Amino acid sequence: MSLLLFFTMFTVISPCLWHQPQPTTAIFLHMLKREDKDCTRRCGDIDIPYPFGIGIGAGCFYNDFFAVTCNNSSSVPVLKKLNLEILKVYIEFGIWAGDVTVKTQSVTACGGNSNNNITNNNTVVEAWRRDPSVKGSPFSISYKNVFASVGCDGYAIMSNQTGGIVAGCSSVCAPKDSRKNICNGFGCCQREVPDSVDKHYSVGVRVRSGSGKCRSAFVISKDYLETNASLASQMTDVALVLSWSVNELFPPAKGLLFKELMFNCSDLGSIGSFVSYMPNF
Ligand SMILES: *[C@@H]1O[C@H](CO)[C@@H](O)[C@H](O)[C@H]1NC(C)=O
Ligand SMILES: *[C@@H]1O[C@H](CO)[C@@H](O)[C@H](O)[C@H]1NC(C)=O
Ligand SMILES: *[C@@H]1O[C@H](CO)[C@@H](O)[C@H](O)[C@H]1NC(C)=O
Ligand SMILES: *[C@@H]1O[C@H](CO)[C@@H](O)[C@H](O)[C@H]1NC(C)=O
Ligand SMILES: *[C@@H]1O[C@H](CO)[C@@H](O)[C@H](O)[C@H]1NC(C)=O
Ligand SMILES: *[C@@H]1O[C@H](CO)[C@@H](O)[C@H](O)[C@H]1NC(C)=O
Ligand SMILES: *[C@@H]1O[C@H](CO)[C@@H](O)[C@H](O)[C@H]1NC(C)=O
Repeated sequence: MSLLLFFTMFTVISPCLWHQPQPTTAIFLHMLKREDKDCTRRCGDIDIPYPFGIGIGAGCFYNDFFAVTCNNSSSVPVLKKLNLEILKVYIEFGIWAGDVTVKTQSVTACGGNSNNNITNNNTVVEAWRRDPSVKGSPFSISYKNVFASVGCDGYAIMSNQTGGIVAGCSSVCAPKDSRKNICNGFGCCQREVPDSVDKHYSVGVRVRSGSGKCRSAFVISKDYLETNASLASQMTDVALVLSWSVNELFPPAKGLLFKELMFNCSDLGSIGSFVSYMPNF
């Protein structure tokens, strides 16, 4: 609670640190009380800070996109509107923006064993997956992800929302004594996610049908890939980072009226004024 309070207050006052508008802080304290009355801020091991929230009151979360459900028996938080399981919520220091790590799946194709169907040897097994469309939402694909593929036959490709190929990579089998779990071209390859991919993408894999090998592909949190992923060729669940911000394109939920406030920080010279969103009581 005290951490949330700190963050939320900072959201408002940070650009005016030495010129703090007193009434503002009071309003925010009031809002926090109201906001948290019918809310749960934790689900299992995962903290769910505002603007996200679990609860029925419209003040629990900023708007429907930030409403979270928590399955009591499994303690799994889910972004209700987009139906995505939450792994972690992160708020940038001092602004109403950040990212949320969600669970998504990889796509996998397996070449089968050549003994099973010799005539099929030179054809290709292909599989595609369209990934979370966050179109029309305040979420977008974060720059904190990479496109990666695990396997040592065939190749992987990534396409944008109109189907244009925007990235691709291939990897060869890792030598027996090589270090595992490093995505460097042996058994795993990775590419930057182009800036143009911000709301939607598809990933595809192709392997030779007689190869007896599998390849999987996914867009994944860079951190997660480097620290926690076990680079098996049939990875299923992966962590994807979505960035979010609270802005005028996505107004707050009904029942909590907000208004734009101008804070004049001209005393600070270089910083100037800025706009924030505040409840109107
Ligand atoms: C979940 O647990 C909370 C607190 O134990 C309880 O108030 C709520 O009714 C439960 N919800 C469901 C859907 O079981
Ligand atoms: C809650 O989790 C349990 C256990 O994983 C699962 O069986 C159940 O279907 C889940 N309920 C909902 C509403 O997702
Ligand atoms: C071999 O592959 C061909 C072409 O995909 C398919 O039509 C045929 O059923 C396969 N045969 C067996 C035994 O799997
Ligand atoms: C998708 O990628 C293709 C090929 O790179 C490009 O021509 C097209 O403009 C891209 N579409 C979007 C919406 O970015
Ligand atoms: C099919 O592919 C396998 C594995 O690459 C190879 O060992 C085998 O000789 C191929 N068979 C034919 C008929 O080309
Ligand atoms: C990696 O796993 C550990 C332990 O489960 C967790 O604390 C940490 O946040 C994870 N790191 C990432 C980048 O997901
Ligand atoms: C901020 O204050 C300065 C100096 O008092 C004034 O000139 C300026 O118009 C003010 N800006 C706003 C947006 O109120």
